[in-house]
Amino acid sequence: MNRPFLIAQISDLHLKAGQRLTYGVVDTLGALRRAVDHLNRLHPRPDIVVISGDLVDFGRPDEYAVLHPELARLEMPCYLVPGNHDNRQHLLAAFADHAYLPMSAGAPLDWVVEEHPVRLIGLDTTIPGAHGGQLLDSQLLWLDEQLAGRPDAPTLLILHHPPFISGIGHMDREPFINASALEQVIARHPQVERLLCGHLHRPMQRRFAGSLSCVCPGTSHQIVLDLQQTAPAHFNLEPAGYLLHRWQAQQGLVTHNAVFGEYPGPYPFYDAHGLID
Ligand SMILES: [Fe+2]
Repeated sequence: MNRPFLIAQISDLHLKAGQRLTYGVVDTLGALRRAVDHLNRLHPRPDIVVISGDLVDFGRPDEYAVLHPELARLEMPCYLVPGNHDNRQHLLAAFADHAYLPMSAGAPLDWVVEEHPVRLIGLDTTIPGAHGGQLLDSQLLWLDEQLAGRPDAPTLLILHHPPFISGIGHMDREPFINASALEQVIARHPQVERLLCGHLHRPMQRRFAGSLSCVCPGTSHQIVLDLQQTAPAHFNLEPAGYLLHRWQAQQGLVTHNAVFGEYPGPYPFYDAHGLID
């Protein structure tokens, strides 16, 4: 493929059932509908969509029942990993048609997709019942083996929990437990172009073992940018957004941070006389 391959990333949908507002405030279903419409209208259209966890708010079957038909409206394939608000068993039951997901609900939902110009590896960083994240030793071993098997394939890892401290106090209280062990694995495999994360509900980047870990904004509410250790667990309704990753073999992976919604413009820089004065 000579044309660029486009990966849209969305995250932290936090859907509820019964038209309820999330935390009594946020219309997460309306936000997801706007996001799906936006991605379908993009030109050029993304080739795939990846979703980095917290698909629903309480991991309930009725929430996944609302989510499934909304994601089915995407006009391109989409790939999911769970977040700490998800429930593996209920997620798998609702998304049985997502053939890349493993069949066993008891184990972490790790997966590999080989059919695109970039290799996708989904990692389940959730700890059932907990807010923070980790990867089990068995998952790290599996990941190391997967990466060793195709060292020349540019690879994206999709995982919910970012493996670093953000500086936002309340989000750091349950950090990624074994980030350094993951870092050691990634350091052995320079074909890892990005770690695509969610959880923090605002765009962020950090160098990670010679690769780059980046966090996608939420499709609805954002975490308040408060870099104090005492930062309380607050969200706001700043413009919701997504990441658009553009892969071309000669040019590498370029990540664009974009927002949903309508804004004034576009306006031209130039007219018939040159740069507008
Ligand atoms: Fe979230």
